[in-house]
Amino acid sequence: MRIFDTHAHLLDEQFDADRESLIAALPEAGIAHVMEACCDEAGIDRVVELVARVPYLYGSAGVHPHSADEFRPETLERIREALGHERMKAIGEIGLDYHYDFSPRDVQRTCFDAQLALAKELHAPVIIHDREAHGDTMDLLRQYRGNLSGVMHCFSASYEIARECIDLGLYIAFGGALTFKNAVHQWEIAGKLPLDRLLIETDCPYMTPVPFRGTRNDPRRITLTLQKLAEIRGMDPEPISEALFENSFRAFGIEG
Ligand code: NI
Repeated sequence: MRIFDTHAHLLDEQFDADRESLIAALPEAGIAHVMEACCDEAGIDRVVELVARVPYLYGSAGVHPHSADEFRPETLERIREALGHERMKAIGEIGLDYHYDFSPRDVQRTCFDAQLALAKELHAPVIIHDREAHGDTMDLLRQYRGNLSGVMHCFSASYEIARECIDLGLYIAFGGALTFKNAVHQWEIAGKLPLDRLLIETDCPYMTPVPFRGTRNDPRRITLTLQKLAEIRGMDPEPISEALFENSFRAFGIEG
């Protein structure tokens, strides 16, 4: 079975003590590839350094809405430069977070819009974070119709929004929250969407699947999310993981 964890934060300080041994253990655990998601300008060089030395990791460069108030026009040049590396495949994670509101909302929108414009220019996939900001996120994404590819990460909106995102060219990623006991609404969405537009992810060290909630998440735990999705769709884990694996390559424009 081949698995692609399409969203991880292996550079998070929670992995400082055992990052290298954990990364080394991934292939044997069936985790063939991981997309390391960047969160701020300071993280860009660290992601490039990581993917340059571990051949089965891919990376993104971008400024998360939490850090939007540190975004400067020059940041775009750093992202552009990072995307020149052969395993830096996306601009992300970018978007809007109206749950925490760590940056003012107008600043978040400006930062998101500027990075969407760069993605359009570079024909680069995006990794989108939308937390409690579905209306404004969709308003911005619609302005890039015809020029979008990439992922709606940690999807938490409605079935109708998921369909619209797919029509806009995006893939829908589900994480550990799919295993939570109260995730009935998400099960319904994950069961109805076309299989060829779905992805799975960990968002580790966060979003740990049941029954490990409360402990640190890592890419190997993605098998629990995979099992849940297989159960929802009435499929065996093996064929569904193969489909998701191929989706991941298409979503990030990776040659298979
Ligand atoms: Ni993330």
